[in-house]
Amino acid sequence: MLCVAFPALCPSMINAQIHNPNPEQFISADAAIEHAQRKLLHTLEELGFNSSLHPGHTDRQSGRWDTGYLKRTEWTSGFFSGSLWYMYKLTGDIVWRDYAVMWTDDLESASGITYDHDTGFRIFTSYGNAYNLTEGRNYYRVLLNAAETLSQRFNPRIGAIKSWDWIGHFPVIIDNLMNLEILFWTAEQTGNRKFYNVALTHAETSLKHHLRADGSTYHVVDFDDFGNINWKDTRQGYNSQSVWARGQAWAIYGFTMIYRFTGEQRFLEAAVSASNYFINNLPPDYIPIYDFMEPYGSVRTKDTSAAAIAASGLFELYTFTNNMRYFNTAVRILNSLSTEEYSTLNDEISSILKKSTLHRGHGNIGTSYADYYYLEAIIRYLELNDTVFPTLAGIPVLFLDQNYPNPFNNSTKIHYSIDEPGMVEISVYDMSGRKITTILNQNLSSGNYQVSFDATGLSSGVYFYVLRTTGNVITRKMVYLK
Ligand code: GLY
Repeated sequence: MLCVAFPALCPSMINAQIHNPNPEQFISADAAIEHAQRKLLHTLEELGFNSSLHPGHTDRQSGRWDTGYLKRTEWTSGFFSGSLWYMYKLTGDIVWRDYAVMWTDDLESASGITYDHDTGFRIFTSYGNAYNLTEGRNYYRVLLNAAETLSQRFNPRIGAIKSWDWIGHFPVIIDNLMNLEILFWTAEQTGNRKFYNVALTHAETSLKHHLRADGSTYHVVDFDDFGNINWKDTRQGYNSQSVWARGQAWAIYGFTMIYRFTGEQRFLEAAVSASNYFINNLPPDYIPIYDFMEPYGSVRTKDTSAAAIAASGLFELYTFTNNMRYFNTAVRILNSLSTEEYSTLNDEISSILKKSTLHRGHGNIGTSYADYYYLEAIIRYLELNDTVFPTLAGIPVLFLDQNYPNPFNNSTKIHYSIDEPGMVEISVYDMSGRKITTILNQNLSSGNYQVSFDATGLSSGVYFYVLRTTGNVITRKMVYLK
């Protein structure tokens, strides 16, 4: 189940073989991981090991992380934490896990940010990877909270999530596709179709209005209250008809991910179409100019973030299409990103990659998202090559999660984690303290578990569920609504 949401991290889900006797090779994977480790450590030192600071992009002059963009409220706040989790995945070194835990824990409050659509970026890159790699129930709870927060920005009449509050009337940006992943994932985890329907409807709206016939994409589409188009534009790119490279990369990654969850052919076709446009317009070194339409002789900075996002998306698209063009392009992008031209191998710049562009006129910087998707693309490449990753050390904790859904109608799920082997009992009590039932009473080894509770036959109201182990008791409240 988890692996459907995180195929990059689940070798068993990428059953695709590389359908070519001579696929492109990522020649410097080990060196790239070495370099990334050095830069992540450098960043930890630069931040003074203060886990309330979350790098967004570097300052063009100093090369250090821009101190004006370190807040957990920035759209970028999850990427550094996500990169730490990826480094843990790549190396199995618990030092990376421990830092990842610190930087992730600091982002809990960001799961309640309601003023933009970026809850998905902030929480799925941090908590999503945390949960996938540790199955810690505390991470699960924050993920569900973030999905609920994000879904509150959905307008059923328009059929979309409102991306921003600061321009237009109801702006929806192509990047928003990425934030659907946490909704699809939550629907899959909880069985709650609401999240699936919100994500699917938004994906349909975006498919209809962002994707052009030639496979390129608009950045922003603004709607009126009835779902009619006010205008279409490209805010971070060259002009309203141009093709912002990172937006195009979000489309490749986003439509591919949506196909992963929905299995609907139209989304796969959209991903293919967006990818073909991207690949057909790449320069010889495979790293795009920040906007494919930016004229010669003008501001033509490169965007390694677009390249890294696209590479990661193309690896997944390859698994659905078996088309070597996607695999080979992704590898060529990785090879190019790993050279001195784009990697900070010989630079005093704090990021792993350099030469990203924030928006027109603000290029030649490092970004935490270029680094994150670069590491993800390396993981996906290694997975496709059947690499066995180092064993990850689990974190045994005692934890009783809030039941989900809550309030519930008849049936709900209770997740819990056990830190030490022994007898475990979970019982349900009513408000007067009368035991209603014992759901579970058995000897368990340490690990993560889930039980279902069916309240059919009980009256609506508040109930308590109690987890008992040798020496510990944890109680939580749940609400049954018929
Ligand atoms: N999602 C914001 C950006 O890509 O710049």
